[in-house]
Amino acid sequence: MEYLNINKDAWDKRTKVHIDSKFYNVEAFKDGKSSLNHIELEQVGNVQGKSMLHLQCHFGQDSLSWARQGATVTGVDLSTEAIAQANLLNSDPELNASFIAKDIYQFGDENTELFDIVFTSYGVLCWLPNLNLWAKTIANSLKVGGEFHLVEFHTFNDLLCGYSYFPRSEPDIEEEGTYTENCDGIKSKMLTWAHSLSEVVNALIVAGLSIEHLKEYPYSPYNCFEGLEYVEGKGYQMLHKGQQVPLLYSIKARKNS
Ligand SMILES: C[S@@+](CC[C@H](N)C(=O)[O-])C[C@H]1O[C@@H](n2cnc3c(N)ncnc32)[C@H](O)[C@@H]1O
Repeated sequence: MEYLNINKDAWDKRTKVHIDSKFYNVEAFKDGKSSLNHIELEQVGNVQGKSMLHLQCHFGQDSLSWARQGATVTGVDLSTEAIAQANLLNSDPELNASFIAKDIYQFGDENTELFDIVFTSYGVLCWLPNLNLWAKTIANSLKVGGEFHLVEFHTFNDLLCGYSYFPRSEPDIEEEGTYTENCDGIKSKMLTWAHSLSEVVNALIVAGLSIEHLKEYPYSPYNCFEGLEYVEGKGYQMLHKGQQVPLLYSIKARKNS
């Protein structure tokens, strides 16, 4: 599993930069600001009293924001640096949140707890070589009646940036910096995999989940790709030959049996 060590090193490095970035604005979070966006807040709805598994939680701002809304949250991430930072941020004894440093597939093999909600968002799927295993981890972690929520960057934008739209068995291997504004001086090797929209949907169906919605969005809350422009009140958009590029999609799915 060489790719895991390579990507873990990259995310450990990135986390050290992200924690001090304006992009993540940890000070505002500490002052009580939620790091969640209206898309996931509307989609997931009321989490009071619910148990939530947050996959690929990075350094935990979103996990802790859900905990501030009353959920009991377990965050899982490959990066030990990200989980160490999440544990430091998790300083409010009123919040029910805990964090696990683990590869998502290893977590899926070992986990026996069942959750009301599994949540994952923004930049998660490209790090995973096998979406069937990913979807199986989600299905196996949900109670019957439980919900899965994904908000993800749209693969169509990756295509315009020169990556494959369709899945390939071989990863893209790149030396990259990171997406926060303070990225000068860091570069690390990373392995990523392309996943088309149909591959994501079919993996969830094969795992036995019922898709309740699939939505696509022309605006992103994050200024993390080249060529984005800000539209007041909407977010960032990208125009291709004058037309809006799909930048995000979201999926809600349920475990019915
Ligand atoms: C772009 S971040 C997630 C974004 C998150 N919504 C945020 O900004 O706070 C992607 C995360 O996936 C994690 N990751 C990558 N490969 C993983 C794996 N195999 N298992 C678990 N986590 C993984 C990385 O460590 C990183 O924290």
